[in-house]
Amino acid sequence: MGLFGKKANTAGQVDMGRLPRHIAIIMDGNGRWAKMRGLPRTAGHKEGAETFRRIARHCKKLGVDYLTVYAFSTENWKRPKEEVDAIMSLLGQYLHEAIPSMEKEHIRVKFFGDLSVLEPELRGLAEEANALSDTIEGVQANLCLNYGGRDEIVRAAKKCAEAGVEWTEENFGKFLYSADVPDPELVIRPGGEMRISNFLLWQCAYSEWVFTPTLWPDFDEQALEEAIVAYQRRDRRFGGVK
Ligand code: IPE
Ligand code: IPE
Ligand code: MG
Repeated sequence: MGLFGKKANTAGQVDMGRLPRHIAIIMDGNGRWAKMRGLPRTAGHKEGAETFRRIARHCKKLGVDYLTVYAFSTENWKRPKEEVDAIMSLLGQYLHEAIPSMEKEHIRVKFFGDLSVLEPELRGLAEEANALSDTIEGVQANLCLNYGGRDEIVRAAKKCAEAGVEWTEENFGKFLYSADVPDPELVIRPGGEMRISNFLLWQCAYSEWVFTPTLWPDFDEQALEEAIVAYQRRDRRFGGVK
């Protein structure tokens, strides 16, 4: 039996003493999941939102301090309006449900991305979650919404220049959305694509990547544990020798 009463996975068991503090996930494959079932792409996003809830819960249960997920990129506006609207509406639903329980459940929900172009209602909810998160303790879920790694870097560069501070990596990092968050040790991309798609360009400098063909709506607790086990088998040298 595995850690949580499930069938043991073939990759072995998670070493609870060496968990990544921060896991980042590119939640990809919703559209293909739906298409395979003859459903509209929006049905895939709905299922993907459920997967996010499950995986966030499992990260918390395992003891991962930070989870960062890619929900909507600066490039995703190219999609049909109906699909964009459906994704935004799912995010709104999630926040309506999550905000009242954040304090009790010890979950801080923060947004990475430019919220200024969102519909006022969703923007208000996202800002409420950001503000509330600054007043409570707990694990942190970062939702990347209208987020692009290049956009984040350009914004940080402007702020760094305006602040007139010395241009060091440490100072620059303070102007990123991830200012108080350690870099992710592990980045997971379900959905079969092997590219970064403008996600956390700065923060991923030394992350370990796990790619899996599993489409995001099918990604489950066992898949998460398998990714962590794969990460724990890596030899992280950071440019040095061992
Ligand atoms: C990821 O799934 C969700 C978003 C990008 C919003 P996709 O919608 O990209 O699904 P595929 O890659 O087309 O299957
Ligand atoms: C990346 O997935 C963005 C999100 C998961 C939100 P995409 O489906 O947009 O990326 P590409 O088009 O395959 O690179
Ligand atoms: Mg995709």
